[in-house]
Amino acid sequence: MLEVENLWVRYGTVEAVKGVSFTVSAGSIVSLIGANGAGKTTSLRALTGLVQPGAGELRFESTSLVGLAPHQIVSLGIAHVPEGRRLFPKMTVLENLTMGAYLRPRIDVASTLTMIYEHFPILKERGRQRAGSLSGGEQQMLAIARALMSRPKLLLLDEPSMGLSPIMTAEVGKVIRQINSLRVSIILVEQNAMLALTLAQYGYVLQTGQVVMQGKAEDLLRDEGVKKAYLGL
Ligand SMILES: Nc1ncnc2c1ncn2[C@@H]1O[C@H](COP(=O)(O)OP(=O)(O)OP(=O)(O)O)[C@@H](O)[C@H]1O
Ligand SMILES: [Mg+2]
Repeated sequence: MLEVENLWVRYGTVEAVKGVSFTVSAGSIVSLIGANGAGKTTSLRALTGLVQPGAGELRFESTSLVGLAPHQIVSLGIAHVPEGRRLFPKMTVLENLTMGAYLRPRIDVASTLTMIYEHFPILKERGRQRAGSLSGGEQQMLAIARALMSRPKLLLLDEPSMGLSPIMTAEVGKVIRQINSLRVSIILVEQNAMLALTLAQYGYVLQTGQVVMQGKAEDLLRDEGVKKAYLGL
């Protein structure tokens, strides 16, 4: 479904991503894990057109994403839940959700909302509340739900567990599984490698802008190096 081949991205003189390659097959969850500054967020930003690659190829269902604007990439069926959630805090929950659909004019907002409320009942209850007044976990749920309003085939999640309690992290994990069961493929970027590798089928370990290891998630979970460096075991 998605092929990233030899991706390079720089910010000024900083080489943030240096020849990263990975693939996502339809229906799967793929995790990118790695420490601060490894290039995880930058890789996602390249996929959604927020930064332009210096080199490399990005193909989604055999369409090249290179040079496309963010709204064109959304139209192809890729949605991004950015690091830090980036909600509109003064707008209501419902307004935030509606914003998620506005780049896809042909989408039936009412039926999509019904689908969203099945998976996130709390967002229906809180529809008229300002997004900024929700708890951290609820805000993360809203950020994910807003992205789903564009009916993506591929969802990019950047650190969805960041700042959440263990209980809320488990809730987010459950929601990620539910979304995937609706045949939405997922790229999950996480510093919480345990969560990421528990949810994913396949994982890539990034370090200073490069893929240093990859494999089935179950194998990475058992790998001594991964255990020590990323799982705190
Ligand atoms: N806007 C920017 N301007 C300059 N350098 C940047 C910018 N954003 C990121 N970088 C640098 O690019 C490199 C990769 O950063 P990136 O945010 O992609 O890493 P990350 O793996 O997402 O890290 P984290 O786990 O902290 O979110 C780092 O060296 C970072 O300092
Ligand atoms: Mg990041």
